[in-house]
Amino acid sequence: MTKQRLEGKVAIVTGGASGIGAESVRLFSENGAFIVVADVQDELGHHLVASIGSDKVSYRHCDVRDEKQVEETVSFALEKYGRLDIMFSNAGIGGSFSGILDLDLNGFDNTMAVNVRGVAATIKHAARAMVANKIRGSIICTASVAGLLAGSGPHGYTVSKHAIIGLVRTACSELGAYGIRVNCLSPYAVATPLTCTALNVEADVIEATGHDLTNLKGITLKASHIAEAALFLASDDSAYISGHNLVVDGGFNASKSCFPSDALIK
Ligand SMILES: NC(=O)c1ccc[n+]([C@@H]2O[C@H](COP(=O)([O-])OP(=O)(O)OC[C@H]3O[C@@H](n4cnc5c(N)ncnc54)[C@H](O)[C@@H]3O)[C@@H](O)[C@H]2O)c1
Repeated sequence: MTKQRLEGKVAIVTGGASGIGAESVRLFSENGAFIVVADVQDELGHHLVASIGSDKVSYRHCDVRDEKQVEETVSFALEKYGRLDIMFSNAGIGGSFSGILDLDLNGFDNTMAVNVRGVAATIKHAARAMVANKIRGSIICTASVAGLLAGSGPHGYTVSKHAIIGLVRTACSELGAYGIRVNCLSPYAVATPLTCTALNVEADVIEATGHDLTNLKGITLKASHIAEAALFLASDDSAYISGHNLVVDGGFNASKSCFPSDALIK
């Protein structure tokens, strides 16, 4: 039996019905957590709950752009499970690709509303519940390699992911006084509905292209690798880590070759 790294803990996972969120819900559940899946895809969310078991996981419709729905989702978790230890603020959208000269500002606003305002609302209400109940909780937000460099997503997406890293740092600076940790994850390309829809290609094309372009060879990045990183940040294994951006990109962001590798390795 695997070690239960979240035994008895209660988590909310936004964007938990699909992709990285759904994989994290499964892994958190295997590790002993009770979870509220918060998403706008109700059918997928209910299906996920049925596949794991409604004794461990619940679904709650929550559009993170609407602060009231975020607040009600936190209240739902407290009423159902009695506490909140982990907020995995992971819901996000890619938004549409358009050049800066033709920037769709309504689309830009919507990306910021989901990816930044939504994350701010989840930090606010999760932290309120943790402070009120004296819980030394863990808040994890999903940023991206697009939060560190341009060229790996639409303009609005890139701006929003840079903003999440700032939001995590500023929230961490205040919440440390209560023993609450705030961190973010920055994944490289994972084949999920978000990337497949944005690029209009099948999962295997995302995976092959991602493998070609990145630094670390012989391994394909999967949603499960991101879920493992989220589990680390959620659990006491990362007890002294706060304000950190855990980049899960196989060294993509750290390395840029100027020369072919066979010219460097003699
Ligand atoms: N897939 C990648 O390559 C990649 C890379 C870096 C970062 N990310 C980030 O990972 C997170 C998860 O994305 P994913 O790749 O698993 O995609 P996904 O589309 O499979 O999952 C995103 C989930 O967020 C939900 N969502 C969207 N808008 C919402 C809203 N307003 N309120 C509540 N839920 C909402 C969607 O319904 C969906 O279930 C996102 O924040 C994304 O930006 C993804």
